[in-house]
Amino acid sequence: MFEKIERVPGDAILGLIEAYNQDPNPQKVDLGVGVYRDVNGHTPIMQAVKQAEAHLLETEATKSYIGSHGDPRYGRVVADLVLGTGSAVIAANRVSVTQAPGGTGALRLAADFIKSNLPGKSLWLSDPTWPNHLGIFEAAGIAMHRYPYVSADNQLDFDGMLATLKTIPEGDVVLLHACCHNPSGFDLNQDQWHQVLEVVKSRGLLPLVDFAYQGFGDGLEPDAFGVRLMAENLDEVLITSSCSKNFGLYRERTGGLMVIARNAEQMENVRSQMAIVARENYSNPPSHGAAVVTEILESAELASVWRAELTEMCARINGLRTDLVESLKPYGLDQRFAHVAQQRGMFSYTGLTTAQVKRLREEYSIYMVGSGRANVAGFTGENLPYVAKAIAAVVD
Ligand code: LMR
Repeated sequence: MFEKIERVPGDAILGLIEAYNQDPNPQKVDLGVGVYRDVNGHTPIMQAVKQAEAHLLETEATKSYIGSHGDPRYGRVVADLVLGTGSAVIAANRVSVTQAPGGTGALRLAADFIKSNLPGKSLWLSDPTWPNHLGIFEAAGIAMHRYPYVSADNQLDFDGMLATLKTIPEGDVVLLHACCHNPSGFDLNQDQWHQVLEVVKSRGLLPLVDFAYQGFGDGLEPDAFGVRLMAENLDEVLITSSCSKNFGLYRERTGGLMVIARNAEQMENVRSQMAIVARENYSNPPSHGAAVVTEILESAELASVWRAELTEMCARINGLRTDLVESLKPYGLDQRFAHVAQQRGMFSYTGLTTAQVKRLREEYSIYMVGSGRANVAGFTGENLPYVAKAIAAVVD
């Protein structure tokens, strides 16, 4: 029966891990998948995580199921982290959190929820967006449309975005990146978030805010500006959050889908549907990563260790942005790549073309996504001069 099944190309982002690992070139540079790397190019386990795990090893008393919504303690700490302690929506009992296998799992919950509970509603995505957004929502059978986000000259196209948002039919879902836009690194400023809020309100849209990089842009609080603005000013919002990056828990699959409803009763109704969606996907979410996050955020001491580590990671990435631009100066390319220093988060839409990316890979063993997206955390003091020289050689 399998003889008609065709082989398909691997995932454009995850496939780079394999290709990089197989490359024997000692100078190879991995700017592909979005994982944080330290000065040695290593993705470390955070100290706060290690300490929380040590405590869990001593105290964890069961491996029994945790239920489709996951651990309510995790739900509480994540709601505080995302919406802010003292949030009026939390106080009004309008928020439900369903623990999920990573931000990806949370997105799939959102997709299945939309499909079964908001029939006929389309999803609007930024162009470009994280390629897996398209895969997840297509798999769930949701119709998709795009709104402009990056212009042909590689700048944030806010006018284009707003103009299209103003045409979206009432009740459709609009996916917004809370911060650290993946893949472009171009974020909205506070004034632009206010303008988006007004359009969302006036057109009666449902925002689905993807919050995968809290703490990687300008810090935990500033990065939450847009998501909190939506939460505080709208009756209904969906938020997917991830602890993959800010707790370095990638493989532990730690995320959540947050629903804000008009009132506590409607929240409970939606929440009951989320339990079904989770049950039908994977029954119960994995526990370990969420237990680690809960340990950290419930302990003032561990939380402060974690915040310090996250601040350091964020500062390192932002420093590398300026370092790259500096490294390109001797080649007269600093103006051309000045946007890299202004972008935020793990990624930069460098403006390199697919052909240039291919040359970087084939001739220099520098790996980045074909769209020209580079993981800035992949730069080190050691590889920057090599990367800068290679970029200079491939650009016109
Ligand atoms: C990325 O965009 O590189 C990350 O979000 C990892 C992934 O799953 O694609």
